[in-house]
Amino acid sequence: MADQIRVLIVDDIPETREHLAKLLGFETDIEVVGSAASGREAIEKAAELQPDVVLMDINMPDMDGIAATERLASEVPTAAVVMMSVQGEADYLRRSMLAGAREFLVKPFSSDELTASIRQVYTREREKLSRIVVQPATGTTTPVPARPSSAGEPQEPGRIVAVFGPKGGVGRTTLAVNLAVAAATELGQRTCLVDASFQFGDVGVLLNLNPKNKSIADLVPELETGEPESLDTFLINHSAGIRVMLAPPSPEMAELVTPTATKRMLEALRATHDLVVVDCMPSFNETTLAILDLADTVLTMLSLEITSIKNIRLFLEVAEQLGYGPDKIRLVLNRADSSLGIRVADVEHSIGRRVDHTIVSDGRSVVYALNRGVPFFLSNREAQVSQDVLRLASAVAGSKTADAGDAKKAAQKKSLFAWR
Ligand SMILES: Nc1ncnc2c1ncn2[C@@H]1O[C@H](COP(=O)(O)OP(=O)(O)O)[C@@H](O)[C@H]1O
Ligand SMILES: [Mg+2]
Repeated sequence: MADQIRVLIVDDIPETREHLAKLLGFETDIEVVGSAASGREAIEKAAELQPDVVLMDINMPDMDGIAATERLASEVPTAAVVMMSVQGEADYLRRSMLAGAREFLVKPFSSDELTASIRQVYTREREKLSRIVVQPATGTTTPVPARPSSAGEPQEPGRIVAVFGPKGGVGRTTLAVNLAVAAATELGQRTCLVDASFQFGDVGVLLNLNPKNKSIADLVPELETGEPESLDTFLINHSAGIRVMLAPPSPEMAELVTPTATKRMLEALRATHDLVVVDCMPSFNETTLAILDLADTVLTMLSLEITSIKNIRLFLEVAEQLGYGPDKIRLVLNRADSSLGIRVADVEHSIGRRVDHTIVSDGRSVVYALNRGVPFFLSNREAQVSQDVLRLASAVAGSKTADAGDAKKAAQKKSLFAWR
């Protein structure tokens, strides 16, 4: 019973509900806990029955499936929606995903497709939750003092800014590099850039650095034993005015860099820099979590693409449950002016919050800089894209809000357990 996937069926046609219930009746790991004939009834039943998965028809009189999905996202967030619709409705797919649906099934579908979708959605949600629940137990938020807090220490620890995006190719590396350069050259911040895309780091390419340079992989033995004594010797002084910690030179070496090692490195770096900019990988794993936890600010990058928006929604849910406040998670819309059929207002409506910063699209400056291995912030200082980056750098290098966020974090973690 405990391991069964609890499913609620929502469709206005009684025969369809019966048919679906019959199909699912053959599956030992799936239990149909109820059915509803309208969006409104779906919300009531979901609140009462707490299903894991809601099979939702789109076209229904009264409240349609999309509106119901939107309501479920806030009222019964543990219920994952699998949307069902007839063929050829691309707009429906788009709107469903924006509303928070996890999967989209096109009618008619086979029973294999149906059960595979249900299982997949269920497993994914489970994984998401287990990450959230595991986290306080492993104590990844415990601050590791990089320096003894003796009175002789001259300065406050620097700020850690993680550049993250739940989807690849949204411009994380481009922003991380230029943000670091802007902070160092214009704001006078002692800045270190960390390439935490350990498997396929690109920072070295953007900065035209020799891959034979030292990388975090060389530092691992020291990090494993504790205090990284010779951290400085592994940092590269770049002519753009920043210091750089490169990712390992080959993907296999990435595995050597554990979450604990990453944390120790960041703590040590923040002790000797005003600003530590971290280019994160797009996957949401233990190491990413360790970085995001430590970060004062998480610049979360999105673009005007449906997959990016869907992932942002999911990430924001996770972030909220992890207790990262809205002042810690800053949404950055990259290539904000590219017209890809989705408007910024739609995105904001769908994710339920405003975009905090925007960066224009400027293929010429960006690609020219990339090919020369010089950050565009230096080669094209006057361009709008550089000004956008500088505005962002000023915003993140400023206020310190971590403490308020941490208090909130603790409170929210508690409520997360209560909720389970
Ligand atoms: N504001 C921008 N205008 C034009 N092109 C951009 C912009 N930001 C990023 N790009 C381009 O998008 C691609 C992906 O950027 P990258 O920084 O490598 O993304 P990520 O690190 O998220 O995978 C690159 O080709 C980059 O040059
Ligand atoms: Mg990258």
